[in-house]
Amino acid sequence: MQCIFELGHQPHISTAEVLAILKREKIKYEVLSTKNDYFILDVKSTEDKIEKLSPDFGGIIQVGVQIESKEFPQKIIVDYLQTQESGKINFSISPTNSKLAINIKKELKALGKSVRYVETKNTASILHNKLLESKSHFTVFQNSVYKTIFIQDIEGFTQRDYYRPVTDNISGMLPPKLSRTMINLSGCNKDAVILDPFCGSGTILNEALSLGFNHIIGSDISPKAIEDSKKNISWMIEKNNLKNVKSKIFLAKTTELLNYLKPQSIELIVAEPYMGKPLHGREPNTVLEQQAQDLAKLYIDSFKTFYKILKADGIIIFIIPKFKFGNVWITVNCLDEIKKLGFEILNFENGDRSLLYHRPTQFVGREIWKFRKI
Ligand SMILES: C[S@@+](CC[C@H](N)C(=O)[O-])C[C@H]1O[C@@H](n2cnc3c(N)ncnc32)[C@H](O)[C@@H]1O
Repeated sequence: MQCIFELGHQPHISTAEVLAILKREKIKYEVLSTKNDYFILDVKSTEDKIEKLSPDFGGIIQVGVQIESKEFPQKIIVDYLQTQESGKINFSISPTNSKLAINIKKELKALGKSVRYVETKNTASILHNKLLESKSHFTVFQNSVYKTIFIQDIEGFTQRDYYRPVTDNISGMLPPKLSRTMINLSGCNKDAVILDPFCGSGTILNEALSLGFNHIIGSDISPKAIEDSKKNISWMIEKNNLKNVKSKIFLAKTTELLNYLKPQSIELIVAEPYMGKPLHGREPNTVLEQQAQDLAKLYIDSFKTFYKILKADGIIIFIIPKFKFGNVWITVNCLDEIKKLGFEILNFENGDRSLLYHRPTQFVGREIWKFRKI
């Protein structure tokens, strides 16, 4: 079955996420193409299964499955819509193609059908017009037609991003979508014990809960962060009426974790660590170099403890920042030391060694890495 995945605004991260989830679900696939923010795969699975796993995605805007046919798009869509339930047919097409839509409408009208073409400008309007429920939104790409089976839960992300009890504009918040993607990139099953040792206001832990993890642990050096995380996590549990959640949130430096956690008790660590002072872009090179060195020490010291608390084969998904100085990146050099501690760097499923999350206006790039305890 051919599936089309519409990629988010960091397409290389989204492709890695799709492949990580398929691997976790033991679904075989063949990559057919990546073009214009569409990722097309031949997937050895069923529509039901893909529909069920799709809400896990953080970086995918919509998912469609191909309507198999040797005909041209117009005929494929007319044939498909004709067989749908009686009553008024509503449909839409992306990317917008008014000519194709008008021709489909004409053909269906000639067949005696009552039909409305909805021009959808974004996924919210596909949802609003209930075109996901009626499975009558189509992506037409390279003469193939895909019917949409999943649309990202924009409302849910907005709630968790802006309407949770506490947001943190000083330490900064990782976007919930990226937090979710990072958890998925681990490839770990949801029964894993997950720790965020730089938990801030609890964004990663809340996404873990939303994904269905039910044993979460968070720690941070800041009493305010611990208070905020506790509030946000309680809100998440109550709002979604989550049962059987085990959560432990406590004040600790990363180097002190062994005072609170048993050795080899954690399967997965996902973290956006402290990344230095916020930058305004005019810092001299020496300041950035010094910051990079200080952070390297913090990360290496932290990984020493991570090694002890992780189970064998435990996974770490970790952001290492890099800083823009003119046209060059100043990097935090800690990878060799981390490897010496007993970790290997794993490539992501799309073959990338690391994944850079960066917007052109930002002075800090977040590079995502995957480590495994060996
Ligand atoms: C970038 S913020 C994490 C934000 C978090 N991902 C979120 O979305 O809320 C980094 C956090 O690391 C914490 N931190 C700094 N140094 C630490 C240390 N040595 N041990 C533990 N936490 C530390 C800070 O208090 C801050 O909350």
